[in-house]
Amino acid sequence: MEENRVNPSATATDPWAEVAARLGADLFLDLQPDPGASARGRGATLRRTLTEALRSAILDGRLPAGTALPPYRSLAADLGLARGTVSAVYQELIAEGWLTARQGSATRVADGAAHPETASNRKADERPSTPSPFRFPHDFSLGQPCAGMFPRTDWIRATRRVLTGAGDEVFAPTHPQGRAELRRALSGYLSRTRGVRTTADLIVLGTAVQSALELLSRTVFGDVLAVEGHGLPFHWQAVVRGGTRVVPIAVDDEGMVIDDLERSGAAAVLLSPSHQFPTGVPLSPARRMQVIEWARRTGAVIVEDDYDGEFRYDRDPVGALQALGPDVVIHAGSMSKSLSPAVRAGWLALPPHLMDVVMNAKGVREGDASIVDQLILADLIDSGAYDRHIRRSRQVYRQRRDALVEAVTACGLGLPGIAAGLHAVIPVDHADEGALVHEAFRRGIGLVGLSLFRHPDADPLPHGGLVVGFGTPAASTFTADLQALRDLLAESPAARRVVP
Ligand SMILES: Cc1ncc(COP(=O)(O)O)c(C=O)c1O
Repeated sequence: MEENRVNPSATATDPWAEVAARLGADLFLDLQPDPGASARGRGATLRRTLTEALRSAILDGRLPAGTALPPYRSLAADLGLARGTVSAVYQELIAEGWLTARQGSATRVADGAAHPETASNRKADERPSTPSPFRFPHDFSLGQPCAGMFPRTDWIRATRRVLTGAGDEVFAPTHPQGRAELRRALSGYLSRTRGVRTTADLIVLGTAVQSALELLSRTVFGDVLAVEGHGLPFHWQAVVRGGTRVVPIAVDDEGMVIDDLERSGAAAVLLSPSHQFPTGVPLSPARRMQVIEWARRTGAVIVEDDYDGEFRYDRDPVGALQALGPDVVIHAGSMSKSLSPAVRAGWLALPPHLMDVVMNAKGVREGDASIVDQLILADLIDSGAYDRHIRRSRQVYRQRRDALVEAVTACGLGLPGIAAGLHAVIPVDHADEGALVHEAFRRGIGLVGLSLFRHPDADPLPHGGLVVGFGTPAASTFTADLQALRDLLAESPAARRVVP
């Protein structure tokens, strides 16, 4: 299922523009049937997806209370659907209380239909007393997908299914390896989408990559972990907390320099081989082979941080490094980029010989992860909802990445790195990076400099950069956010003195 941007500024030939104009809103509707769906299921699928698209637009405030929807006949014509399909959707939403209809008047979004936590729906005196964290008006910060795309309806459905079917044992303390349902679902998913060679028995569930690194430093890493010279400081800190020293290894345009790794004497390495964080380059095929061969020869262990492997836009995703060496690679991942960092769910797919040492360190019962959420996630994967969410997200982020490339190149700048993930780096001179980040802040644009990710003992990269988290902005503000970024680049003298 693909996601279509319904934008009032679209051309007249775009059927979605007409719909948007009628709805008076900048709206995403997810209406394209899955190309793999059978013809028999197409009508039912379209009905279900239109219902969900309208529900989620109401839930996240894109269709506020009182908004008049177009007559169902017009919407059916606009969308190329049968009138009966749209009429049935309206009726279902009226019956559920999302919409109201009065004789002779338009069908409207019902008062109070939006999610109770939607800010715009909350009365002033109900606002929480603690101040909400500062947010930039144009927020390109890192580390999160677009929050408005969280699949709320699917999550609610999965929760209902799970809790309805769950035996009482679900609510008792659980084995720290995590629920078998999610380990099974994940092992199938990871092998299908990332080529990971694992089984449910070799997966250990937790809350995030960060906590997994701390666990591994207590158990597997030994004294020293080699890391990419530019990477995530809070991951290094987690490793240090676990008792392991971190040694940075240079990164160039083929990823980590494995010759330097070999010279470092480390017996463990943390890599982001599919899309180096933050530079965005993949580890070259020759270096992938070299690092596996090094680990086998020396008995070292490799941790693969596969943080955004599903989001690749120009061609098929590079398969997981783990597939080349399941005996030496620990595959680490989480739902932080694919769903939300608020869903605290992560995993390790371990080589068999490391299972005992890691499980012994986890103790006798799960200390952190939500077992109920593990079952919900298993249901999301098994029901296909998770795959649909990923496909939909990939489509949206691809469009955003294309729009970012266009904006940046229009300003005479470049965007190196592969088209993947939720962030991109705009290279600028080291000397200009700080001034540009400062000017961005002054204009209300939240982004960070590339130097923020340099390990203190690592050499600087040949250039500085602006690191842009293009997944973060809300759908309704993305165009304006991008325009603000474009203005920054076009109007700042520093941005023109860019590294080629
Ligand atoms: C490089 C990198 N690895 C991993 C993650 C996922 O982190 P965690 O699972 O600790 O939330 C992120 C998310 O920001 C990331 O940027």
